[in-house]
Amino acid sequence: MIHIKTPEEILGMRRTCRLAAATLKMIEPYIQPGITTGELNDICHQFITDHGAIPSPLNYRGFPKSICTSVNQQVCHGIPGDRVLQQGDIINVDITTYLDGFHGDTSKTFPVGTVPLKAGKIMRVSRECLELGIQAVRPGGRLGDIGSAIETHAQQNRCSIVREYCGHGIGRSFHEEPAVLHYGKAGAGAELLPGMIFTIEPMVNLGKAAIKHLPDNWTVVTKDHSLSAQFEHTVLVTPYGVEVLTEL
Ligand code: MF3
Ligand code: CO
Ligand code: CO
Repeated sequence: MIHIKTPEEILGMRRTCRLAAATLKMIEPYIQPGITTGELNDICHQFITDHGAIPSPLNYRGFPKSICTSVNQQVCHGIPGDRVLQQGDIINVDITTYLDGFHGDTSKTFPVGTVPLKAGKIMRVSRECLELGIQAVRPGGRLGDIGSAIETHAQQNRCSIVREYCGHGIGRSFHEEPAVLHYGKAGAGAELLPGMIFTIEPMVNLGKAAIKHLPDNWTVVTKDHSLSAQFEHTVLVTPYGVEVLTEL
């Protein structure tokens, strides 16, 4: 069952999503050559707790840190640690906040200094995929409209969509129904109704779609070592269209 949020729940979701968005904006200027992913984690953890919230990833299914940091060929769920960012890297920072009973989830891929052309390309295509996915959201539409828009754009740019991970309903739980696939057929899948809240978060690879896990059992990487990028927003289906809750 896909939960339709009440007006009160929507207010709570707006607050937690704004905090998640503010955390991403806060961390951006720190993303420079020389900083470690562990330092980024600690700065975000402090900011989130200073605002009365808890970072949702911490201890989630045993995840040991407060944010996910995924560098270059890492697709998602990278664990912050001693890795030092280098000029030319790209890094996805994924923030989820738990504020007054509600989760808000957003991520962006950032360049570290000046990056190679192919890094710029995968960031651009993946950002466009998210934007087109959001534009496909409307009441009366279908979940498949979102996946179709995203997959088509990735294919047109000779990039591929990771199939093992998808967007998700979100609210009082971090991950709830529906699963929001980033591929599929327009007109297929569940009907989108006002009050539904879910994330859209396509993981887009410069090479093939296949992934594997690192021995830490969390970090997902591309099998062919190609670059991967991801952007994520939490969105609300409104009576008129869509509201992006994780935009400041
Ligand atoms: N924020 C991720 C998502 O977009 C989930 C991270 S789960 C963690 O759904 F355990 F790796 F933190
Ligand atoms: Co998410
Ligand atoms: Co996320």
